[in-house]
Amino acid sequence: MKLAFISDIHSNIHALSEVLKKIEEFKIDEIFCCGDIVGYNSFPKECLDLVRDIKIKSVVGNHDLAVVDKKFSWFKETCAMGIKHSIENLEHCDIKFLNNLDFELSFVRDGISFYMCHGSPRDKLFEYIHPWFTDDILSDIVKNVNADYIITGHTHIQMEAAVGSQVILNPGSVGQPRDGIAKSCFMIFDTVDLKTNWYRVDYNIKSATEAVLKANLPAIFIEKLIQGK
Ligand SMILES: [Fe+2]
Repeated sequence: MKLAFISDIHSNIHALSEVLKKIEEFKIDEIFCCGDIVGYNSFPKECLDLVRDIKIKSVVGNHDLAVVDKKFSWFKETCAMGIKHSIENLEHCDIKFLNNLDFELSFVRDGISFYMCHGSPRDKLFEYIHPWFTDDILSDIVKNVNADYIITGHTHIQMEAAVGSQVILNPGSVGQPRDGIAKSCFMIFDTVDLKTNWYRVDYNIKSATEAVLKANLPAIFIEKLIQGK
């Protein structure tokens, strides 16, 4: 089976459309998302509709949950503006959909076990698993997870790290990459050869940033898209 993993779409429909177009070129059996469908950019509703329409299996992210429970005063002021924009542009059924997303997903495909959440198994919404973490820290983070592959998002940076017999993977961000490369991220995992293939996709940043401006969202969101960080 070929499994595509995406994460941190963050209401960037221009990026999501291009990523899904690219994914379509491969014979993918399932698409998974590590959360944060909404927040930051201009098109939460459009992104959510696509995720729903093509049945992407997603866990909930910290921005998704903030849109549901409306507790976002502790977020950075600019992030909070993105969350408010999402709330204002979503319908009741969308909020309900986000509210129904699980914090974690465990599944087995072709005998290979996967565990997926947004942040980390210890703190599913908020803890970052950074690429520069030492083996000891990574081992501690995954010590209670009974899965071959642990897939997380949240950092917006692609990552692959072997920890004993387990592997931690992060597909990177569709809608707001943060490694200095202004291209959308995703990865494809092949359950036959156990290979992870990493992808970066160009998308229409000009249209995405113009939409951010038009929606009166913070200018820093535009900078993040242009600089990819
Ligand atoms: Fe995020």
